[in-house]
Amino acid sequence: MKIFDVYPLNDIEIVKAKGSIVWGADGSEYLDLYGGHAVISIGHTHPHYVKRLTDQLNNVGFYSNSVKIPLQQQLAEKLGKMSGKEDYQLFLCSSGAEANENALKLASFYNGKKKVIAFKGAFHGRTSLAVAVTDNPKIVAPINETPNVIFLPHNDEFALEQAFIDHGDVISSVIIEGIQGVGGIKVASENFLRKIRSLCDQYDAVYIADSVQCGYGRSGKFYSHDFAGVNADIYTMAKGMGNGFPIGGISIAAKFKPWHGMLGTTFGGNHLACAAGLAVLEVMEQENLIQNAELVGEYLITELKKFEHINEVRGRGLMIGIDLTEELFHAKKDLLFKYHIFTGEAKPNVIRLLPALNLTKEDADKFLSAFDSILTKEYSVS
Ligand SMILES: Cc1ncc(COP(=O)(O)O)c(C=O)c1O
Repeated sequence: MKIFDVYPLNDIEIVKAKGSIVWGADGSEYLDLYGGHAVISIGHTHPHYVKRLTDQLNNVGFYSNSVKIPLQQQLAEKLGKMSGKEDYQLFLCSSGAEANENALKLASFYNGKKKVIAFKGAFHGRTSLAVAVTDNPKIVAPINETPNVIFLPHNDEFALEQAFIDHGDVISSVIIEGIQGVGGIKVASENFLRKIRSLCDQYDAVYIADSVQCGYGRSGKFYSHDFAGVNADIYTMAKGMGNGFPIGGISIAAKFKPWHGMLGTTFGGNHLACAAGLAVLEVMEQENLIQNAELVGEYLITELKKFEHINEVRGRGLMIGIDLTEELFHAKKDLLFKYHIFTGEAKPNVIRLLPALNLTKEDADKFLSAFDSILTKEYSVS
């Protein structure tokens, strides 16, 4: 049997990883500023994480949601406290798409309405509803097409207000990333998020904060939506939540009342997943990783803005987009193959930095120096 070939691959096999360093099968060392796509939050193979998962696996790895799993409550309490949403409720699942799928569904159960507002450049996942609210027709199969989604320009308060005037009685929810990831690291403005909050209140719609990539401390706050100073009704999360263990969740405001059978999943909230989730939050708290993301992120953004010949540096904390001019189209490949630094990308020519939240200033400097060499030596544009 062959692997269904949907991923363009770099010819590198990673066999070992520690902190922000990974090693290839040939022994080469790489600096990881990609974090396996914003997933590695507390660093690779963190000893506390490895121990907590190993201990859990030696006791019980999995049982279904038909029995009490106290680890779920422990995770909910810690998450509530660290995210500043102690009166919210937690539903656990296993991926970002599943989190968004459940959030959109819950919103519709709540207000009985069908339409969703999503934004240009948005990415919310690949399952049925999640892909329908994703702005990429190439990955929307005919069966996923629905008249229930209204796409609006990003950060356009006037268009948003008009959409509510026109369709307010049928709008169930508004879904928005605090910082668009796949869309090229575009920050939702604080005024725009506040406008979403007030229109959702006015029209009985649900504000869904997709925090799958920009959440969990990456932006320098627990949820990047927090910069706006208003609460969303539902926060969706995954990626950094398990530092590589597949876990997702939605944090749900108190006004949503559950009933048995309303939502469900086989794998969500299993023992091993909860142990991973708890280990991540414990390390984040003990090592002040949100503050580190803010400080090292600020440093990187400030230094990157000093470079010439780049269009723009965008982002917050350790979610950074370097929008490059066309002549630098090879920079990402050069960083990887010549300077051994993993980064992410977004179309058309944006380098995405999504490292572990405990990235050190020294590692940030290694990247800055390699980037400087690329601009000066490789392309002679400085
Ligand atoms: C903002 C956002 N939402 C949802 C998803 C989907 O998450 P998953 O791939 O875990 O289904 C992603 C994945 O990149 C994402 O960036």
